[in-house]
Amino acid sequence: MSRSLSLYMDERRKIVEDALDRFLPEPGGQYSRLTQAMRYSVFSGGKRLRPILAIAAFEVVGGEGNTVLAPACATELIHTYSLIHDDLPAMDDDDLRRGRPTCHKEFDEALAILAGDALLTLAFEIVTEKSVLPPECAAAVVRELAGANGYSGMLGGQAADIAMEGEPPDIGAIEYIHGHKTGAPLAAAVRIGAIAAGAESIDLERLTAYGERIGLAFQIADDLLDETGTAEEMGKAVGKDRDRGKMTYPVVVGAESAVIRAQDLVDDAIRSLDAYGERVWALAGIAQFMVDRRN
Ligand code: IPE
Ligand code: IPE
Ligand code: MG
Ligand code: MG
Ligand code: MG
Repeated sequence: MSRSLSLYMDERRKIVEDALDRFLPEPGGQYSRLTQAMRYSVFSGGKRLRPILAIAAFEVVGGEGNTVLAPACATELIHTYSLIHDDLPAMDDDDLRRGRPTCHKEFDEALAILAGDALLTLAFEIVTEKSVLPPECAAAVVRELAGANGYSGMLGGQAADIAMEGEPPDIGAIEYIHGHKTGAPLAAAVRIGAIAAGAESIDLERLTAYGERIGLAFQIADDLLDETGTAEEMGKAVGKDRDRGKMTYPVVVGAESAVIRAQDLVDDAIRSLDAYGERVWALAGIAQFMVDRRN
């Protein structure tokens, strides 16, 4: 990664971390374990890629001010909720996340379920907080978040991911799973940034094409890293997909083809932003990072 991209991402990550700290409730009172669990999972060293993408999309279409901050943080709250639930014994049954015990290991299953639910609902609360965004813009962001993360988006993909464990490899199924469980929320993060900037529909179309492609590439890279990465780098267990009989991209098409497909998607994603010329450097760099990363 270039030094300028690394600086760009660090700067925005810091802005997001500070805003998340303001948006999350302080633990306190008799029932503070729920808020402790929320904070435990949010502040555990995630890469913050979704909010960074939202901000980068906001900037590329000329957004100004901080109207993108709450929508950007909402994508991270929902992402963290999806990870907490993804790790539960009833789903992927993982003990390590972001280099620490998973939420249900540190607290318990009931609190992990509730902390996830609380982060999801908080996401909608912060986006609709008065004076954050004009009401019609807030409504569009809410619709986007709900659609991309609901039954026809992330949750649909997660249900298929579980249902297809142990099934024979199927390219249609894996494209569905990855496009829904990871592609849809990631594309939504990009779209939300553009919506917060009041983007035209042509901008939205271009950024959607970019977001969907990098979303799929991101999950292919996650599957590959599950086979080639180390738990130390990843902050989560590796080799778990094959153990569970998960249908992953490398399982369906082979590792070599998976690498090629991921890079093709990144190249296509960058090409879909050609119209923005030089302005697109950050989004282009982030797209490449999606597949070059080691964690
Ligand atoms: C992990 O996402 C879950 C997938 C969608 C593959 P990230 O790799 O973005 O996780 P964090 O937020 O950086 O921990
Ligand atoms: C998780 O995919 C996707 C969502 C949480 C929506 P994975 O199950 O592959 O993610 P990791 O590998 O546990 O991070
Ligand atoms: Mg999973
Ligand atoms: Mg998992
Ligand atoms: Mg994975």
